[in-house]
Amino acid sequence: MLTLGIESSCDETAFALVQDGKLLDSVISTQIDIHALFGGVVPEIASREHYRLIGHLYDSLLAKTGIDAEQIDNVAVSRGPGLLGSLLVGVGFAKGLVAGTTKKLIGVNHLHAHLLAAGLEQDIEFPALGLLVSGGHTQIFLIRAADDFVELGKTLDDAAGEAFDKVAKMLNMPYPGGKYIDQLGKLAEPDTKRFTRPYLDNTNLNFSFSGLKTALNLYIEAHSHLKLPSLNDVGELFNGNRDVAELAELCASFNFTVADTLRVKMQRAITQRKEVGDAVNSIIVAGGVAANSMIRETMAEVAEKNKLTFTLPSFALCTDNASMVAYMGEQLVAKGYSHGLDLDAIPRGRKIPQDYLHSLC
Ligand code: KG4
Ligand code: ZN
Repeated sequence: MLTLGIESSCDETAFALVQDGKLLDSVISTQIDIHALFGGVVPEIASREHYRLIGHLYDSLLAKTGIDAEQIDNVAVSRGPGLLGSLLVGVGFAKGLVAGTTKKLIGVNHLHAHLLAAGLEQDIEFPALGLLVSGGHTQIFLIRAADDFVELGKTLDDAAGEAFDKVAKMLNMPYPGGKYIDQLGKLAEPDTKRFTRPYLDNTNLNFSFSGLKTALNLYIEAHSHLKLPSLNDVGELFNGNRDVAELAELCASFNFTVADTLRVKMQRAITQRKEVGDAVNSIIVAGGVAANSMIRETMAEVAEKNKLTFTLPSFALCTDNASMVAYMGEQLVAKGYSHGLDLDAIPRGRKIPQDYLHSLC
């Protein structure tokens, strides 16, 4: 079975071909440089860029793989959550490929696709506890199968990645600045008491990062010498020309606070599942922020402590990509799911409906 995956939910336009659980090839174009000029993703620009690139990228994947459009059995597309205009470009393109053919159309939940992406590289041991940490989302799921995701907790305000990017912006680093905070943090030991780990004094699995962001803002305003003079100076941080010791300690402390907050909630999720008698065999950490070194280390420790398998996608599968969409779509089609040409794009904030055309399950 040959499945084409299409991703256009935010600022990456991407296609991938997956055959029987294996990635054949993929193409991706990122808009990061354009949005960096504005300090964040501009939805109107994002959808126009997707529209401009989508046809060329599709052609380039077919040319690269030598695969003919007729050979494709299924077309899987990220149908949400994401930016509505951007999603519509991918969904419309998918419908165009499927219309008048026997190909199956399958709309994929972008968040679920992130969490199962690692399945392209290693077998996932279900049931799994999945932590999704991306620019737009921070969520914990109990995952029993590709079509059985139960949301256990989510952020009530900012996503972890948003907090990283906003702190980086306060320091005058280019968007998206999460990776700079990570790299600088590696140069120092964290002060584990510098910032309060947010929203832990409860029994739930939700997150709230906006208070931590405010704490960082107050700290940075009071220590404004830590800010970069200009966005263009980011290279200075790593070429040894600038004394970054104090800034590195701030970044390490922030990395620690986020990672340790995620640790407490994941440990709580494991304990709560045990209490209700639910089996959990593995932990999956996915999404762009799963690239963060302190978060990766901390989650590996949680898995080890609880004797669970630790599943972490490689970096290219952590950030937005179409391989995960094709992989997820293939599994759903194999279970008998597909969508009609009335498939709707669902923006962030709206619940994704289980509106499959038919299901064999
Ligand atoms: O999953 P993703 O590519 O896009 C969304 O679907 O949101 O995640 C992007 C986010 C950005 O906020 C970016 O700053 C963050 O992932 N990120 C990191 C690191 N690398 C990417 N955050 C912290 N440490 C990193 N190393
Ligand atoms: Zn994503």
